[in-house]
Amino acid sequence: MSAKGRSAGGAFGLNRQYVTCPEIYQRETENIFSRSWICVGHVSSFRETGLKPIQIEDHKLFLTLEGERVRTFRNFCRHRGSQLVSEENCGSIGQRIQCPYHAWTYERDGALVAAPNMEGVEEFDSGKFGLIEVPCETVGGFVWICMEPTQSASEFLRPIDQQFADWTTEHLQVAVTLTYEVAANWKLIFQNYSECYHCPNVHPLLNRLTPYKGSMNDVDSGPILGGPMQLSHDSESMSIDAKLVGTPLPNLSDEQLRCVNYFTIFPSMFLSTHPDYVLVHRIQRMDIDCTKIICEFLFHPDCIESDQFDLAKAVEFWDLTNRQDWEVCELAQSGMEDREYIPGPYSDLESVVAAFDKHYFEQMSNGE
Ligand code: FES
Ligand code: FE
Repeated sequence: MSAKGRSAGGAFGLNRQYVTCPEIYQRETENIFSRSWICVGHVSSFRETGLKPIQIEDHKLFLTLEGERVRTFRNFCRHRGSQLVSEENCGSIGQRIQCPYHAWTYERDGALVAAPNMEGVEEFDSGKFGLIEVPCETVGGFVWICMEPTQSASEFLRPIDQQFADWTTEHLQVAVTLTYEVAANWKLIFQNYSECYHCPNVHPLLNRLTPYKGSMNDVDSGPILGGPMQLSHDSESMSIDAKLVGTPLPNLSDEQLRCVNYFTIFPSMFLSTHPDYVLVHRIQRMDIDCTKIICEFLFHPDCIESDQFDLAKAVEFWDLTNRQDWEVCELAQSGMEDREYIPGPYSDLESVVAAFDKHYFEQMSNGE
């Protein structure tokens, strides 16, 4: 996306150290990733088992779902640390979670309810050895965690709460997930998604469906950035044949049916709302020069059941577009690693990239 009539304010790109320096990576851990609300997935992705192991940065956690309430716990036993929930066992764990090692057993609310042969042991009080909970909220059907929250997730997400409401995201279902590992720093992935300066060159098909100059930014400062791009007159959605993938979402206005909205949610998610589906990219740092990206396609149950539903058309389009993006992100990482790299100025089509950098630097200097 780019800003119509906006400017990048004379800003230049990031210096080499921001994609190569381990000390900066570590500072991001403390100043950004420990303090931000991070999206860890959509409720529909674990409704069946009610349990899901996740890893965010160095934190090994698991989610539980009871009714509509999601909670997050650290994924280790309070006895000698054994991992409790894994992809392999989460389908067969019953109402209680029993440690596979010495059989300490926990309720799904984290309470320790059985610990064989521990009666009478000095220093043992079952009330003190429940699972350790991590702050967690569900907004728009997406689960968010934050290690050191300074505001609620719903407050943080206020700039896009209308998107969640209009696209009824809490009622959608993840139909398919694509996963990528990209040899580029996480910020380059964010910057790339924040501009369409590259679209005519890198994405000929995408640029035909949404011409790169047809973008606006509803939200142009702070942790959430983005806005709509107009679909071209003969395009109905982002799909390989430019047609709808299924029935449009139920509550959208005529105007909303003629555009795709792109938002970045610092530092973990891209939200792209289409006339007939919602696309989510979850961004996870793996290393200074490596980022995992989990791309999920969410549909309304009525759309999935409609006769015209053809998921492959959306998947083919976005897998192609994703790979085109990752390739240029990797080229940028590679070039920026050169010791003599000197950043150049942003164009006016990169005003959102400049806004991303500004927010990044504000977060990095917090508490200093
Ligand atoms: Fe879990 Fe011993 S490590 S019961
Ligand atoms: Fe792109």
